[in-house]
Amino acid sequence: MFTFQPIGVVRGPYTDTGEIPKGPGAKHDAEGTLDVHPEFEAGLTDIDGFSHLFVVWVFDRSTDYDLMAHPPIDDRPHGVFSTRSPRRPNPIGLTVVRLLRRDGPRLHVRGIDMLDGTPFLDLKPYLSSVPPDELKRGWLDEVEARSRRPGGG
Ligand SMILES: C[S@@+](CC[C@H](N)C(=O)[O-])C[C@H]1O[C@@H](n2cnc3c(N)ncnc32)[C@H](O)[C@@H]1O
Repeated sequence: MFTFQPIGVVRGPYTDTGEIPKGPGAKHDAEGTLDVHPEFEAGLTDIDGFSHLFVVWVFDRSTDYDLMAHPPIDDRPHGVFSTRSPRRPNPIGLTVVRLLRRDGPRLHVRGIDMLDGTPFLDLKPYLSSVPPDELKRGWLDEVEARSRRPGGG
């Protein structure tokens, strides 16, 4: 077993999960802050140079998990590990945010999809080395293709 200590708290506009955009083409452009606890502030040294960050966080308001998930964008179930469902055995969230600016221990970011008050465990610079033509998006591509067809949904 492992014990993790949050390094900070997300502050953003969402207080209810129903307010967070979902579905095909949902845009995550909400702005908020990642407030790093003072004892970890030195760890932010040099972070300003990165445009995007991975935020590793906790679905602290999830109470249980389902191995088969029912994503809101599809009428078919999918294994939880092929989705981004909040109801997972280890309730860990991963979000890429745009870093707008830093004020000491406070990072101003765009792309929040977590509830206000969500604890986060780690930050890492976003670096992607996967060439776009090698990236496969599994069942998501099928759903998006269906929704683009006339009469699709
Ligand atoms: C589909 S998950 C994706 C989160 C993240 N981008 C990921 O891939 O791990 C986003 C949803 O998690 C839920 N959520 C956000 N913050 C949460 C929290 N602190 N506890 C439980 N559920 C949360 C909301 O319903 C939100 O729409």
